Amino acid sequence: MENIHPIFDRTLGRADRESLLGQRGIVLWLYGLSGSGKSTIAAAVERRFHAEGKLTKLLDGDNIRSGLNRGLGFSDADREENIRRIAEVAKLFVHTGVITLASFITPTRSLRQLARDIVGESDFHEVFVDCPFEVCAERDVKGLYAKANSGKITAFTGKDSSFERPDSANLVIETDKETVDSSVDRLYTYALESVAR
Ligand code: ADX
Repeated sequence: MENIHPIFDRTLGRADRESLLGQRGIVLWLYGLSGSGKSTIAAAVERRFHAEGKLTKLLDGDNIRSGLNRGLGFSDADREENIRRIAEVAKLFVHTGVITLASFITPTRSLRQLARDIVGESDFHEVFVDCPFEVCAERDVKGLYAKANSGKITAFTGKDSSFERPDSANLVIETDKETVDSSVDRLYTYALESVAR
């Protein structure tokens, strides 16, 4: 064993960090159509945890796509690479003990499975933010539905690029049927159990 210097007794593990923070790391993966309300709900749940003294991190489509994933578009291959990188980043956060909220369209079952496989089954919570295409188009918060209609955006999710509804999700939030406050409440309450150490 000459020249071998094990560092196990010097490296910190996930449990050390989680015990420092007094919380368990989890990933809440919110997915659904553009304009369905993912980011609004994720941001409010994050604030709620923060107010309770919990460490959180919100990963959001528009932010990640203008930084880490700048250069990726909306082809199937680019969406997969987008989700793959985000899931790897979410895993880093979760192993640091952080309550990680990911807010991405994640349009197909196989992309959701990819994220779940990367993060790991026991840390991954699928939250389907369900809202009919017509309602999202009506809201058109970012003006993207109008652009998609006039052909200024191609491969738009729900129009010319498919969105697959899930067979099952850990939690379904129907934003056309419940208030933001109620959605935030339900997700926070759901997550609370998993976060307790
Ligand atoms: S995903 O399909 O790869 O999961 P992601 O959540 O990162 O998508 O990015 C979606 C955001 O990109 C939308 O909220 C919208 O603001 C913007 N966007 C631009 N072009 C498109 C498009 N063709 N389809 C969907 N979203 C688009």
